Amino acid sequence: MRMVDLIEKKRDGKELTKEEIQFIIKGYTEGSIPDYQMSSLAMAIFFQGMTENERAELTMAMVHSGDTIDLSAIEGIKVDKHSTGGVGDTTTLVLGPLVAAVGVPVAKMSGRGLGHTGGTIDKLESVPGFHVEIDNDEFMKLVNENKIAVIGQSGNLTPADKKLYALRDVTGTVNSIPLIASSIMSKKIAAGADAIVLDVKTGAGAFMKDLEDSKELAKAMVSIGNAVGRNTMAVISDMSQPLGRAIGNALEVQEAIDTLRGEGPEDLQELCLTLGSYMVYLAKQATSLEEARTKLEEVIRSGKALETFKTFLAAQGGDASVVDNPNALPQAKYKFELEAKEDGFVSEIVADAVGTAAMWLGAGRATKESEIDLAVGLMLNKKIGDEVKKGESLVTIYSNQEDVEQVKQKLYDSITISKDKVEAPTLIYATITE
Ligand code: URA
Ligand code: CA
Repeated sequence: MRMVDLIEKKRDGKELTKEEIQFIIKGYTEGSIPDYQMSSLAMAIFFQGMTENERAELTMAMVHSGDTIDLSAIEGIKVDKHSTGGVGDTTTLVLGPLVAAVGVPVAKMSGRGLGHTGGTIDKLESVPGFHVEIDNDEFMKLVNENKIAVIGQSGNLTPADKKLYALRDVTGTVNSIPLIASSIMSKKIAAGADAIVLDVKTGAGAFMKDLEDSKELAKAMVSIGNAVGRNTMAVISDMSQPLGRAIGNALEVQEAIDTLRGEGPEDLQELCLTLGSYMVYLAKQATSLEEARTKLEEVIRSGKALETFKTFLAAQGGDASVVDNPNALPQAKYKFELEAKEDGFVSEIVADAVGTAAMWLGAGRATKESEIDLAVGLMLNKKIGDEVKKGESLVTIYSNQEDVEQVKQKLYDSITISKDKVEAPTLIYATITE
């Protein structure tokens, strides 16, 4: 086989076979296929697309380009959740203990990464003593005992995706639905998921800004999952403004605790119940979505969800007393209020810009080397549709620096107040179950 022939085949809109896709991914991972040929192929895929078969084969070829995690020592159906990202998305912190409390095994492998706030591990590390440096056996044992554990990313998972994603980033080929879908799905499958729930964000603060594109991406991923034997469902949810109210590491842990207690922000609570219902259903811990939701509501009401969170924290060295005593979480030195300059209704909160403001405070990493300040961040006191009076606080800024003028200006620029009444945005636009 010659790569040039396969590039021409795709350029002309023909379907690549399983063997051809395996040849490409193997060659590219090993280095026998150079970047210039791979980027040419990526561009051909960008314009010609891929059939359902090609997408499934590409996904599995990338899964097998490196290590895969074997979770078979854990009892039950392992359901993983993936979010396409957004600002202040606290769902992972809530969903883990929430679905574990009804018996779904949560074997979470997580990372740190770049962004407006830290990753799930950074957030959890705001609980004093909590750590993810456990070995594989300990990890499996904890999931079997408590139904939930989190471990840091290790092993060489999907090296083909790492290399290809970096190449796409500099060749104008990131924005291709088949390439995005196979990239995301390959990582979940390599990490050992039997079933997958996807939270595809849409709106100004999302990777996919357009609802139709978001739906298409969701359908592509659900179809790949089902084609390769992993039951997959997707929810399209709003990211026209940040989810919940907290954006920051310790602040989001606090928000997760509130939500597990049934006292969290309405949008976060609702999205977690929806995504959680799919997870419980796919894990076969309920025979219908309604039954799944009832079970989740029950563990919130009874306190079992919070108990599960405490057990999980303690099992990994964390101080579980933070659940009842928020002061035990890292606290910022200063607190400032962003006061509304006029009366009206909040009509826009540009999620990306708010995220950037949180990052300037130190809540996230701009580069791999940056240090995260776990205590700092933002609390949105108003969301789209809320009425506001001049002088009322729109946002509380938690900072360890005394001068937050730049942050305030950024926030003023990203929050619009209109004279006319505004409706709160739709939270869940669609569910894709196929
Ligand atoms: N996220 C991924 O993991 N892969 C993509 O290709 C795009 C977004
Ligand atoms: Ca949040």
